[in-house]
Amino acid sequence: MTKNDEVKTIGVLTSGGDAPGMNGVIRSVTRSGINSGLKVMGIRRGFQGLISGEVEELNARSVSEKLQQGGTFLNTARSETFTTEEGQKQAAKMTKIFGIDALVVCGGDGTLRGATDLAKTGVPTIYIPATIDNDVGCTDYTIGFDTALNTAIVAVDKLRDTASSHERCSVIEVMGRRSGYLALHVGVATGAEIILIPEHPLDLEKDVLGKILSARNRGKYHYIVIVAEGATDSIELAKYIESEIGIEARTTILGYLQRGGTPNYFDRYISSMMGIKAVESIIAGEINRSLIVQNGKVDDIDLFESVNITKKLDETNMTKAKILSI
Ligand code: F6P
Repeated sequence: MTKNDEVKTIGVLTSGGDAPGMNGVIRSVTRSGINSGLKVMGIRRGFQGLISGEVEELNARSVSEKLQQGGTFLNTARSETFTTEEGQKQAAKMTKIFGIDALVVCGGDGTLRGATDLAKTGVPTIYIPATIDNDVGCTDYTIGFDTALNTAIVAVDKLRDTASSHERCSVIEVMGRRSGYLALHVGVATGAEIILIPEHPLDLEKDVLGKILSARNRGKYHYIVIVAEGATDSIELAKYIESEIGIEARTTILGYLQRGGTPNYFDRYISSMMGIKAVESIIAGEINRSLIVQNGKVDDIDLFESVNITKKLDETNMTKAKILSI
């Protein structure tokens, strides 16, 4: 597609795990698309819905009162079929049937891989990062992370009250799949005594028992342990703490709570800006791009390059968290 090609219709879908702010993306793509004279089609249930042709036209009113809602009103799914060549061809065929000239896809790292697969079939694609995990390598930030972080912080603060009253150890599991990003940031922001993340080799005696005992010897009588779901089994960990050092321990798995809720300012703002940028890129003929946040600004890079970038977590934050929890 070049700048001179006439784009008449664009599509938008959300895929993978929902994240607060996805509705902001749909709204922004829809309204900025309409503002530029485009027809905007919403695809339900991510790539799976594209394969089965679940496509409907969106207008300015269909996205009213969505900005403040968590989740995604277009629904989302993890599609096995779309990982096959056949599924991808079928999805591409559907874009032709519905006259979709370019597609905006919003989701996490699986969605980014899906976006590249779709682009390879010849469908002009723009990727917008959204996942509470913040584990997409090409961007400093993924939509939904800040809201999830704040949801988790509120929960941990409450758990600290009860852990403190009972002088217990509170083991709190946060999401993040194979990434410790969410756990690390929750841990820093809640003053956790211990943070366990999959990126760090785990030595239970040193990293858990040793730290709890030395905290106790420094005069602490309750302990917050933030466990990334990919690091270890949090229920077993509490049992281990109790049986090894006799300190009462309880596990709370925050789970899907972290994915819901009204998006905060940052997620509303970034989703709004990215939706506009996606439409601008399509109109300018700049397709097969990944939108990113870099140094606090919304930018874009080549889609096929973006998929190969891996995320490095700032490990010095582990040391800083330890210093601050003495
Ligand atoms: O990627 C977002 C996420 O919430 C991860 O943190 C978690 O591991 C996963 O999705 C859960 O996926 P599902 O919704 O398929 O159970």
